[in-house]
Amino acid sequence: SSRQHVPKGLKTPPGPRGYPILGNVLELRKDTHLALTRLSQKYGDVMEVRIGTRPVLVLSGLDTIKQALVKQGEDFMGRPDLYSFRHVTDGQSLAFSPDSGEVWKARRRLAQNALKTFSTAPSSTSSSTCLLEEHISKEADYLVTKFLQLMDEEKSFDPYRYLVVSVANVICAMCFGKRYDHNDQELLNIVNVSHHFSNAAAAGNPADFIPVLQYLPSRTMSLFKDFNKRFLHFLQKIVQEHYKTYDKNNIRDITDSLIEQCLEKKVEANTATQIPKEKVVNLVNDLFGAGFDSVTTGLSWSLMYLVTYPDIQKKIQEELDQTIGRERRPRLSDRGTLPYTEAFILEMFRHSSFLPFTIPHSTTRDTVLNGYYIPKDRCVFVNQWQVNHDEKLWKDPLTFNPERFLSAGGTEVNKVDGEKVLVFGLGKRKCIGESIGRCQVFLFLSTLLQQLEFSVCNGKKVDMTPLYGLSLKHKRCEHFQVKQRFAVKGMN
Ligand code: HEM
Repeated sequence: SSRQHVPKGLKTPPGPRGYPILGNVLELRKDTHLALTRLSQKYGDVMEVRIGTRPVLVLSGLDTIKQALVKQGEDFMGRPDLYSFRHVTDGQSLAFSPDSGEVWKARRRLAQNALKTFSTAPSSTSSSTCLLEEHISKEADYLVTKFLQLMDEEKSFDPYRYLVVSVANVICAMCFGKRYDHNDQELLNIVNVSHHFSNAAAAGNPADFIPVLQYLPSRTMSLFKDFNKRFLHFLQKIVQEHYKTYDKNNIRDITDSLIEQCLEKKVEANTATQIPKEKVVNLVNDLFGAGFDSVTTGLSWSLMYLVTYPDIQKKIQEELDQTIGRERRPRLSDRGTLPYTEAFILEMFRHSSFLPFTIPHSTTRDTVLNGYYIPKDRCVFVNQWQVNHDEKLWKDPLTFNPERFLSAGGTEVNKVDGEKVLVFGLGKRKCIGESIGRCQVFLFLSTLLQQLEFSVCNGKKVDMTPLYGLSLKHKRCEHFQVKQRFAVKGMN
């Protein structure tokens, strides 16, 4: 049907022929990122697949993706109206709702400003330069203590379960001025099952494309709906508490600053920048949700690579010893001085590509890309995994090798190569937590590795097979062990 409206002289994107009704859903169900990468080798950077009866545009290749998301940013900045997305944040999500107009723009700016204010503001403690550094340092120190305690008591442990609480505490501190205990059951019940979200929000979830599936019972979808409800309920209580204790002369955290916006802007005429009272919780929901899962997943993959490649772990520790020493904690300002550590993080992002696709986009108007006609409201998948494993960009892309990012001599990270790694998206929908996310991965890792050596129990091996979802997870592993590298007085 879409083919009837193609203007003269333009082609529709090529793609595999699918089955009637199902389209290509069978080939795409498992490891969608790998299946679409294979197909892109045959059909090119701009291709069209069908999931159910719905056509989906799939973009690959860094240049093509830059052309679409940056140069033609306005055309490609929409979000599709997908069944699963309607359940996120009551259908009011900044990240998942189909709105990409004035209201979305105003809220995105608001969220960006609030994040900036409550991460870069000076810290009241003398050992940290900004609030973000203070929060991460504190949580990372706590993790070191916790891991050592677990070793004492249990001899081995699953680090994910503790990482996720520490990372959640960083965004909690900024959003609510609050931190949770590692055994807080209410928080654990949410953050420990984020795969319930990831599984359903993955690009290519059949329920989003084959309407009849919405009426059939699905475990994935019911876990997803339940997760979203519980998450919103959890945050609603905290936001209500903030309203009760709100004082305009003492803005404590991001929630307070959103409440302030909401109360102040009431008198203004511009409806786009107003946030109705009930929407404060939705913005907080987006920041908290986006803020804990991606960072935890990245850190957890980092630990998996470190125990798989002990020599690489050792090199990072040698660099930390040489540059920072053992007398003080790592700081955010050390980032530029630790090229090997930085190269490891880039290689972890690239090799794991744990966000294999961005959140799906959609076209906001009829447009043309690389000579192909794309109609308005076309659902678009952006294949970040493909870019990060493209043989045209990377030598031996399947090999894990941090040194690929180091210039000769290993004294500097090659900035141009670093920028080819695609994990935060690009253009108008680019992640608004990128700098906070990168800071967290850096400071958590360097603090952990300065003091601890990670390994798995004798004879055990970690399973690096990624499980497909919005974010690629690995199987949990309970066999992690740590050894203290040295004791620092007053550090823990
Ligand atoms: C969106 C990656 C951390 C907030 C995104 C997107 C990606 C991404 C790929 C989708 C881009 C698109 O659709 O084109 C990551 C990674 C992170 C991270 C890899 C950590 C390593 C964070 C943090 C926050 C955050 C810490 C908040 C504190 C958001 C928001 C959006 C988003 C609100 C939606 C933007 C929009 O739709 O306009 N992120 N993110 N992210 N991220 Fe992040």
